[in-house]
Amino acid sequence: MLQRIIILTRIATSLSIVQKGYPMVLNGSVALITGAGNGIGQAVARHLASKGVHLVLVDRVEADAQKTAESVSPMGIKALAIGADVTSEADTARFIEAGLKAFGKLNMAIACAGVIRDGLMLSPDKATGKIGKKLGLDKWQQVIDVNLTGTFLTLRDAAEAMANGGWPGLLVTISSVNKVGQVGQLNYSSSKAACALMPKIMVGEFHMRGIRNIRAVGIAPGYTATPMLTGMNQDALASILKDVHLGRLIEPTEIASLIEHCAVNEAINATTLEITGGLCYAGAIAK
Ligand SMILES: NC(=O)c1ccc[n+]([C@@H]2O[C@H](COP(=O)([O-])OP(=O)(O)OC[C@H]3O[C@@H](n4cnc5c(N)ncnc54)[C@H](O)[C@@H]3O)[C@@H](O)[C@H]2O)c1
Repeated sequence: MLQRIIILTRIATSLSIVQKGYPMVLNGSVALITGAGNGIGQAVARHLASKGVHLVLVDRVEADAQKTAESVSPMGIKALAIGADVTSEADTARFIEAGLKAFGKLNMAIACAGVIRDGLMLSPDKATGKIGKKLGLDKWQQVIDVNLTGTFLTLRDAAEAMANGGWPGLLVTISSVNKVGQVGQLNYSSSKAACALMPKIMVGEFHMRGIRNIRAVGIAPGYTATPMLTGMNQDALASILKDVHLGRLIEPTEIASLIEHCAVNEAINATTLEITGGLCYAGAIAK
């Protein structure tokens, strides 16, 4: 008899998890987006707002987050703009808490905050042939702090809220096609390789521990028309574009629409998807 009660309780518990879990209904759900003041984060915000998603918009530059919030408010959703640094554990806790206080739940966390600080690890001096310049620890650390640690802190704390709340949840890392390794980007490619792996590891751990309501996906964009690309070597960018089958940069709106698809298609989980327009090297698809 006792055994039967235990079995029935287990079934009831698992059913309630399933009910709380899938599928994700966009209209009325809540998304937290970091780096929401520009580029991909801003495009994702606008796209999700057009689907009825309420937004917590985080950016290091509060005025930029605020501008995004103002641009989406005519769409009939609520948007909360927060100035915060994703590399700070205290800031991460603060924006998750503020989002929960404002909306009472969290369904998506999309870690778009990112930086680029390109440079070769070693640059020999032309005259002497000796190493004249090294990739500075500052450039290394800034990229790792924002792209990797920032993603970790944002998604860890968002996942904690989702697990405790039991709402349908999706975590999104933003990797890059340069996760395969780009010269001049030892720092950036290393951070993006890690971001590509994160969804698989996170979901593996959720699976081990019976957390069923949260999925995780990574998005690995190719070269995308955002302010970030202005920080890149423009000759290198022009040369890279020759290898894009689509013949142009990816639009941030195209990435936003892929994220929407990931949100509603629950079969996409624990993986990283590339969106590049067909990046080919010397006539062959890279990889
Ligand atoms: N643009 C591309 O070609 C491209 C390609 C692949 C991947 N990505 C990735 O997409 C993400 C978004 O890039 P983007 O092109 O939109 O860049 P962007 O520079 O246009 O926007 C990045 C935003 O992140 C914010 N930010 C930076 N550091 C922050 C911090 N510490 N805390 C909070 N916010 C911070 C910035 O203020 C900015 O608003 C990044 O992770 C980037 O690496 C971009």
